[in-house]
Amino acid sequence: MITVRFLPQDQSVQAHGGDTLLDCALDHGISLPHICGGNCSCTSCHVYILQGIQNLSPVEEPEEYRLSTARNLQENSRLACQAILIGGDVTVYIIGETDEWKM
Ligand code: FES
Repeated sequence: MITVRFLPQDQSVQAHGGDTLLDCALDHGISLPHICGGNCSCTSCHVYILQGIQNLSPVEEPEEYRLSTARNLQENSRLACQAILIGGDVTVYIIGETDEWKM
């Protein structure tokens, strides 16, 4: 099992390899915006990966393009609906609508 810690609520949950971060959050009742329903056509599920970015599937198209349109893009940005757990623990920061948080 993989442990995924979601901030800022600081909730840790168990997940399976092959799940997306969005699946993982929703399966455990954690609020994570997903306006397009996980189809990679919005940026509402934009998150920052604070630890374990190597434990996620690499960024590929169409995520790469969609992510490039996200506000406050950082090197550790991912779209939660496209980032798949491939093994090892991950810490994720869910960006709020008015969140000015930066690394
Ligand atoms: S939910 Fe829209 S891109 Fe992830």
